[in-house]
Amino acid sequence: MTDPQQALARLMTTALAAAYGPDHADADPLIRPSQFADYQSNVALSLAKRLNRPPREIAAELAGRLGDSEVIETAEVSGPGFINLTLREDWIAAQATAQLADPRLDVAEAAPAQTTVVDYSGPNVAKELHVGHLRATVVGDAVVRVLEHLGHKVVRAAHLGDWGTPFGMLIENALDIGEEATHDQLATGEFTAFYQAARAKFDTDPAFAVRSRRRVVELQAGDEQTLRLWRRFVDDSMEYLHKIYSVLDITLTDADMDPESFYNPMLADVCAELEADGVAVISDGALCAFPPGFTGRDGGPLPLILRKSDGGYGYATTDVAAIRYRLGKLGATRLIYVVGSEQHQHLLMVFAVARQAGWLTDAASAEHAEIGLVTAPGGGRLRTRSGDQAKLITLIEEAIDRAERVIAERYDDPGLRRQIAEAVGIGALKYGDLSVARNSSYALDFDRMLALTGNTGPYLQYATARIRSIFRKGEISLDQATGPVRITEHAERELALQLLGFGAAVWQVSEAAEPHKLAAFLFETASAFTTFYEKCPVLQAPEESVRSSRLALSALTLRVLLAGLDLLGIPVPERM
Ligand code: ARG
Repeated sequence: MTDPQQALARLMTTALAAAYGPDHADADPLIRPSQFADYQSNVALSLAKRLNRPPREIAAELAGRLGDSEVIETAEVSGPGFINLTLREDWIAAQATAQLADPRLDVAEAAPAQTTVVDYSGPNVAKELHVGHLRATVVGDAVVRVLEHLGHKVVRAAHLGDWGTPFGMLIENALDIGEEATHDQLATGEFTAFYQAARAKFDTDPAFAVRSRRRVVELQAGDEQTLRLWRRFVDDSMEYLHKIYSVLDITLTDADMDPESFYNPMLADVCAELEADGVAVISDGALCAFPPGFTGRDGGPLPLILRKSDGGYGYATTDVAAIRYRLGKLGATRLIYVVGSEQHQHLLMVFAVARQAGWLTDAASAEHAEIGLVTAPGGGRLRTRSGDQAKLITLIEEAIDRAERVIAERYDDPGLRRQIAEAVGIGALKYGDLSVARNSSYALDFDRMLALTGNTGPYLQYATARIRSIFRKGEISLDQATGPVRITEHAERELALQLLGFGAAVWQVSEAAEPHKLAAFLFETASAFTTFYEKCPVLQAPEESVRSSRLALSALTLRVLLAGLDLLGIPVPERM
C-alpha cells in the first residue's frame, strides 16, 4: 500500500499508541494535504481536550516519535499544534517504482466485497432520452465501473419505465396509423413525435380517449393481443436505447433494463405484506404508507400511495417492490439510486418504508446519489426550438461535429478524423458532466467542454497522446520503462507524489458515488505532468539513470490517466 495519506495515518496510529497507550490509538490521525509540507496532521488539536494537555505539547511528543522512519523525512510542530509532515524522497521514488510494476496501479480491492445495486439512467419506453438523462446515465455508469474495479458485485438496474396509463393511447394510435407504419417511425427513434400525436388525439377526440382507457384496462388484465402490441413498443425502445448507450460507451445491456413491469406480479403481495404489518393503511379508499418524518404542505403526514382507490398501482408501488426484491432476493447490502434531485423526497420515502417493513436494516444502506440539472448556457432549461427538452442524441451529434471542426486541420483522412472526433466529442460531453459535482447544476457550454486546456476531456486525452508520442519518438515500448524512479528535481517529486494518490481517488468515488473526485485527481495529474515535462527533459535527460526514471514516471502517468479515464468511461484516441 503506497498511498501516502494512509501510510502516514498508520504511522501516526502507532505513535499515538506508543505515546498515550492503546486507548488513544483509535483517534482519527486527521492527515490532510498541507501548503507548508506534503501533509499535516491535526490530531494534537483534537486530542487536547481528551488528554487535558496543551495541543503544542502533544504535537511535540508525537512529532518526536515520527521523525525517524523510512517514510517521513521531517515532522515539525507549527501554529497552535499542527504537525507538518514531509515525506522522504527515496520512499516516494520506491513507491512509484512499485506502483508502476503493479497491474492494479496500487488500487486496493474491497474486502469484503458487497453486492451493490446501482439504479441509473432511468429511461422510459416510447420516450427519447433527453438532456436530463445524460447525467443519470454517465454518472451511474462511472460509479458502476469503479465499484466493479474495486471487486464488488454490481447489479446494474436501469429501472426502465415500461408500464403505465400512457400505453393505452400509444397502442390505440399504433392501431390507427397501422402497426408497420408505427414500427417504421419508431425505428428511426422518433418517439417524441409519435407520443405527442397520440397525446393530441387523446385530448381532442373523446372516442379515442375512451378506447385508450379501455386499452389500459386490457393491458393490465394481461390481454394477449394488447400485450403483443405493447411489447413492440418495448422492443423498439430497447433497440433505440441500445444504440445510444453504445455510442456513449455505457455498459448497460438489455439484461440490465430491470423494467417496471418485472415487478407487476409482486405488487399485490407487497401491498398485502405492508398492510398486514401495519406499515400501510387504507386512507380515503387508497392504501397508503405514512413513513414518519414526512409532512405535506398542510403540515399533515405525507402519504406514499401504494394502491389507488380504483385498485391501480403506480410508480411508488413499483419502487417499493423493487427495493424489497433488491434487498431480499438479490441480497444487496448497498443500493445506490443515481436519479434526479426532483425525486429526492419520493426515494427517501421509499427507503423509509423499506426500513419500517424491516427489509432495510443496519446491515444494508440505501443512498440517493442526487443528480442536478444541466442548463442552457445562460441558465434555464436546455430546450429544442419547439420548446421540448433537448434530445440527448442531438447533443451527442453536436459534440462530435464540433470536435471534428476543432481537430479538422490536423487530419486529412476523413475516416480517421471522424473516428478521433467521436472519441473527443463523446469524451468532452461525458467528462464535462463527470467533472462537476453530480448534485450541482451546470451550464452546457460546448466551447468550454471542447477546449484543449483547462479541466476538460480533450485536455486529458491530449495528455495521454503526448506521452505516447514521447515513447514513439524515442522508439521505446511502454513495458520497457520500468525505472527505477529516482528523484532529482522538484517537479519529479510533485508528479510522483501526485500519482501515489490514485488509489485514494478511486476509493473516494465509491464512498459517496462521486466520480468528480476522480476527475479532479486526473486533471491534477495531467497538470503535474505538464509542469514536469516543461522542466525535465525526458529523452534528452542528462544521464541514463535520470532518463530511465523520467521514462518510468511518464509511463506511470500514462497508465494512471488511461486507467482513470477508463473508470470514468471516457474513450481515449491513440493519437490526437
Ligand atoms: N423512469 C423514471 C423517470 O423517468 C426514473 C427511474 C428512476 N429509478 C427509480 N428506481 N425510480 O422519472
